[in-house]
Formats: sequence, C-alpha cells, structure tokens
Amino acid sequence: MNHFHQKQGQLWAEDVPLSAIAQTVGTPIYVYSAATFTRHYNAFSKAATGIDHLIAYSVKANSNLAVLALLSKLGAGADVVSGGELERAIQAGITADKIVFSGVGKTKDEMRAALGAGNGDGIYQFNVESVPELIALSEVATQMGKIAPVALRINPDVTAGGHEKISTGKAENKFGIDITLARAAYDKIRTLPGLEVTGVDMHIGSQITSLAPFEKAMDKILDLVTALRSDGHNIKTYDLGGGLGINYDEGQDDSPLPAAYGAMVKRKIKGHGLKIIFEPGRAIAGNSGILLSTVQYIKSGGARTFLILDAAMNDLIRPALYGAHHQVEAAHKNNTANETVAYDIVGPVCETGDTFAVKRDMLKMEAGDLVAIRSAGAYGAVQASEYNTRPLIPEVLVSGDQYAVIRKRPSIQDILDREAVPSWL
Ligand code: LLP
Repeated sequence: MNHFHQKQGQLWAEDVPLSAIAQTVGTPIYVYSAATFTRHYNAFSKAATGIDHLIAYSVKANSNLAVLALLSKLGAGADVVSGGELERAIQAGITADKIVFSGVGKTKDEMRAALGAGNGDGIYQFNVESVPELIALSEVATQMGKIAPVALRINPDVTAGGHEKISTGKAENKFGIDITLARAAYDKIRTLPGLEVTGVDMHIGSQITSLAPFEKAMDKILDLVTALRSDGHNIKTYDLGGGLGINYDEGQDDSPLPAAYGAMVKRKIKGHGLKIIFEPGRAIAGNSGILLSTVQYIKSGGARTFLILDAAMNDLIRPALYGAHHQVEAAHKNNTANETVAYDIVGPVCETGDTFAVKRDMLKMEAGDLVAIRSAGAYGAVQASEYNTRPLIPEVLVSGDQYAVIRKRPSIQDILDREAVPSWL
C-alpha cells in the first residue's frame, strides 16, 4: 500500500497533484510520500513487537537527510556502509547507539569516525566481514583506547535475491565470512585487543520474494550461534540484514509482508535469547517514491513507438542495470484519448540501455504529458549519476497537502565548478 493514487484524472501524492509539483519544481524529479514511509516503517516495527530488536534502516536505499530525519523521528536506527552515510545518519538525528556499520571494505578513517561517534561512545555494532578487517579494527580501537563491539557477517551459502547482481549470500560472493570458517574467526577475536564480540550478522541478498531463503539461512546461523556459545563466545545480537522484497507490479506475485516475515523470525529465534537487528531498505523506501517525468517527444512510424522522456538511465539505473521492471503510468494527460499504444519508454541518454520499459501498453500519450515511474523510492536517487552532464535531479517530499524540495537541482555551472583545467594546458 502506498499513497500515490489516481484521482480526478491524474496521479496524486497524498493530497498533492503531481502536476502541481511538476509545475513549480520542473521535471524530472523524485517525489516521496512521508505517509508511505511512515506506514512502511510502522508495519515493520509492528511486525517486530514482542522481541528485543533494533530496526536499522539501510541508509543506502534512500539516504536523503529529510528521509532519514523522518525515519529517525519514528524511532529508526541506521545501517551504514560508509563514512558519508554515517555522517548523514548522525546529522539527521539518528543516535550513534542505534547505528550499525556494514560493508566489506571499511577504511581505518571510517572505523575511527564510527568509534568516535556519539560523543565518543561509538556506534552500536561493527559488522565485520573478514579477519584482516578485524585486525585493522583492533588496531584503530587500541590506538583510540576504545573497545569496538563486533559481529561477524557470516556467509551462509544460500541462494537468494531478485537478480544475480544483488544476491550476496552464496559462498562465491565477496560478502561475509564463509560459514565453515566462522568459528575460527570468532576465536581469532579473543587474541585481538580492543574488540568485544556482540553477535552474528548476515545479509543474504535483496528483493527476496519468498521467506524460504531467510529461513534456510537462519537455521544455519542459529546452529552456528549454539556452537559459538559452546566455544565460550557471548553472542547477544543477531543481525538479519535486509532483503525483504516488494511488489514492483500490481500483477506480480505478492512479496511476503513485514508481518509474515516478522512472524517467521519470531518463530525461529524463540528461546535463543537474542536481540534481533533488522536492516530493511527497499521494504521501507521502495514504494514510497516515484520518478516523475515529462514526455518530450513521441517517435512513431518505425518498428517501435518510442515515448521519449526527460528522465534517463542516469536518474534511475535499475532497468538498465538489472533489467528491473518498474510500473509506468500517466500522471497527467493533456488529452482524453482512450486508445492504447505499446510504447518503448526511453530517455535521452545516448545508449540503447537507456530504456525504462519495452512494448508497455499505455493510454495514448502526447508530448507534455507527465508519467510516473513507480517504486523508485529505493535505489533510485542514490544510484543516480551525472552521465551526459545531466544534473542530479531534485527530490521532493510530500506530507498531506504540503511538499518541500529536499534536494535541489544543481546548475550546470555547479557541476563544472567541481572541475579544474590545469594552468599548464
Ligand atoms: N544490509 C546490507 C548489509 C545490505 O548490503 C543491504 C543492501 C541492505 C541491508 C538492504 O537491503 P534491502 O532491504 O534494501 O533489500 N541496488 C540494488 C539493491 C542493492 C542492495 C544492496 N544491499 C537494487 O536497485 O535492486
């Protein structure tokens, strides 16, 4: 459920017609619904009631400061993967004691920042992914006179995820410590000063639309927890990562809802005495945003009919990168034709991959009409680039009948000002 709906012949975000936002801010733009973010966060939070837990929203899905501030107010913590994301989370008001730091390549500077965050108390937990990283963290913590709380990310070797590029829990993926090497890695922590074991961590993939892979991975990791405890390690937390999928299409099979996922987790961890950390990204942000774009031209007469938008692959790369399906619908039409046309929906970038959809049936469109590309709230704006020297597009947050630009459109000169021509040229 989201708060983008058709009313009076056009698409609205909550109580604001998207055409009104397009008129004042221009297109292309990302538009987010605060009510949808809130609804999704609360659904997750409700699903986790009754167990000791932390919801560490995965900042990479949508890291706009306003989005983080909204989630922070709702009680969210954060899962960060860089010094930049850490800084964003803190500036948005998420306290360090609710932040976990994931990622395979943390630098010593990033470790230092995380250990020093929260007036020096440091973040809640480092999710460490290799023995060399443990050694580096031990060195940094010792230098700073601090104890770093550590969970090891375990690679449970299960297949999961909507696309090979976003599946992370197979033995051949770069992520985590091979489950067969986990006990030795935990034993290694005992020999390293400045580290304290807090728990175990996994993240098996993204856009996972069945509970089965989660269950399989949890069975393996819970067995490991028993073994680690018998080895004398004090395992208090279990970070399940993110990965719960969403529906990208009304016709698609339903992804499990947070309630079903939560019920499964509760059943699995019963009696284990673990605090559970969730790192949802897409499940909270995905359907909370759309990409709003204007039809520039319609090119017809050849093999295909092209709907050429002012948005492109540099703004939303998911279709080009993963062959991802996004629903596209008219947000505002200047005619009332009810003839259906199959469009190839494309952007202006000079690549054939700059295609949002192929042979997609839509009511006949005209230049100047607005289209909404749905489910663009996660991994949309955050994965945008300035390819073809197209400025990063604005982000707008709607709440009820009000809206605000939460990232402004840079000028071409802003882009050029970051570059320099050496005097010797
Ligand atoms: N935790 C960790 C350690 C992660 O690496 C990720 C996502 C998450 C949590 C959040 O996963 P989610 O709940 O959003 O599935 N760009 C791709 C998705 C990449 C996901 C990367 N890791 C896409 O557009 O589909």
